[in-house]
Amino acid sequence: MSQAEDHAGTRRDFLYYATAGAGAVAGGAAVWTLVDQMNPSADVQALSSIFVDVSGVEVGTQLTVKWRGKPVFIRRRSQEEIDAARAVPLADLVDGKADNANLSAEADASDENRTLDEAGEWLVMMGVCTHLGCVPLGDGAGDFGGWFCPCHGSHYDTAGRIRKGPAPRNLDIPVAAFTDETTIKLG
Ligand code: FES
Repeated sequence: MSQAEDHAGTRRDFLYYATAGAGAVAGGAAVWTLVDQMNPSADVQALSSIFVDVSGVEVGTQLTVKWRGKPVFIRRRSQEEIDAARAVPLADLVDGKADNANLSAEADASDENRTLDEAGEWLVMMGVCTHLGCVPLGDGAGDFGGWFCPCHGSHYDTAGRIRKGPAPRNLDIPVAAFTDETTIKLG
């Protein structure tokens, strides 16, 4: 059998097993092998990380990059934005969780838990409204000086936390880290 035929056979087998469901399948070892092949390998996961050069991002502006098919906002906040976010009592927040993939699920939504660096200058978030997935407008939009989703009127503050409108959660923070002074790795 050629490699192509072999590959086609594997796909057919997988589709069959997926349709049959786990309970109905004989030959469990073969299934595990196939399922294992469906999980992203370390190589594939590495490919889905990107490195972003943020050396050109001025204070008070943001860069939007596409990552895994979605927009990511990388904002370099001004001192005013940082101060505004840090002055908000946690009790005023709609969603008290940090929603930060770099922290535990229990972490609170303090501004410090939302930003990439300790000083709070860099804020990296998915540009996807947590209501129904529109892309919020940035650069101080909305009643809280952060982002505003025009689809149904959700207002996010300068830390990307939901403050008013139908969105139930803060904008999600993806796995991100500085790899050197001017490069942020996403994923
Ligand atoms: S999708 Fe943003 S408010 Fe509905």
